[in-house]
Amino acid sequence: MTIPGFTSTGSKRPEAMFGSETGGPQKMTRSEGCRLWDAEGNEFTDMIMSLGAVALGYAYPEVLAAVYEAVRAGTVGSLPPVLEQQVAEDLTQVIPNVESVRFFKSGAEAVAAAVRIARVYTGRDRVVTCGYHGWLDWCQNEAGVPRCVRDLRTEVPFNDLDALSRAVEQETPPAAIVLEPIIDGPPDRGWLQSGRDLADSCGAVLVFDEIKTAFRVALGGATELYGVTPDLVVVGKALGNGFPIAAVCGPLGVMDAATRTWISSTLATEHAGLAAARAVLNVFRREDVLGHLRSTGGRLMQGLERLAADHPDVIVGVFGVPQMCYPRCVSPESAARFAVEAAKRGVLFKPAGYNFVSLAHSDEVVDHVLEVLSTAADQTEALC
Ligand SMILES: Cc1ncc(COP(=O)(O)O)c(C=O)c1O
Repeated sequence: MTIPGFTSTGSKRPEAMFGSETGGPQKMTRSEGCRLWDAEGNEFTDMIMSLGAVALGYAYPEVLAAVYEAVRAGTVGSLPPVLEQQVAEDLTQVIPNVESVRFFKSGAEAVAAAVRIARVYTGRDRVVTCGYHGWLDWCQNEAGVPRCVRDLRTEVPFNDLDALSRAVEQETPPAAIVLEPIIDGPPDRGWLQSGRDLADSCGAVLVFDEIKTAFRVALGGATELYGVTPDLVVVGKALGNGFPIAAVCGPLGVMDAATRTWISSTLATEHAGLAAARAVLNVFRREDVLGHLRSTGGRLMQGLERLAADHPDVIVGVFGVPQMCYPRCVSPESAARFAVEAAKRGVLFKPAGYNFVSLAHSDEVVDHVLEVLSTAADQTEALC
């Protein structure tokens, strides 16, 4: 093995899906629509959609055409591209309260930039967080992260208003309250609103990390859906439909702090990600992608709930929202077995992490997936 820890994307490691069970596919070569092909040429219906990075379907022709054109136009140069300004303007149209945008290549970078902006804006260091915000030091307790960095962060559970108030109202007020607005289920609107109220009362910057939720639960993510407006919104994943792009978006008054620190990356403005984003936003404007994700995801989630009721020895419950949901298994072993049994029957499905429908998932595809999952659950019951 030449890649230490194989692979560079941790959540795509075969053991992240299949545990120590054998029999699941290991590596892929190609993807299209809602299908992918493994190194042996086997075809799978993909319910994970590259960890939610793709909402239109893989290799969506219009997005590919825009990217080919951008690549032919040189991909990069030594001046800021016109496209950067155009995509920034597009984002101001679709995300509430946005006047200014900074682009990045990954979600982790974009959320880290939002926190840096909040620290400059407030002159404070501490942050309160809820959810996953990427692998960078500011939000991790992993090996290699200095104690002094970890000590600057207080993490709170989802939808827990008291915990959020306690974490914010400590002696040292926070620079930022960074919330993933949907985790395991919809948020209580009161919890989101309390994030807004607490930030206002202590002068912190409220950040919604909408990396998974923007262009999925609504064009403007949970910010639009629940009508609570943060100071900064961070977007990524579905915006590029598989091409690398993420962004921090907000009003000029807060975003201006980005000019009083150093936030910059050589390839942040390369053409391919920007061109993909522009094409993606055009498709969302023209077609009812959001309605499709809601109804197809709803069909999947209802089917999973029936599956859970029929297989209580395998599945303890179904979590998330229709557009991103998962069944929780009784143990890591049964989750791994369930995933392998589904994969053996041609379906890539996560029993312990979000599954995401796309525009390429029809009702027929979802019904077929549910049939396969039912057989996989029967097998898991028999074997675990
Ligand atoms: C809510 C959220 N924030 C940030 C990230 C990090 O994004 P990336 O993996 O593109 O760095 C993720 C990735 O899954 C995420 O779900």
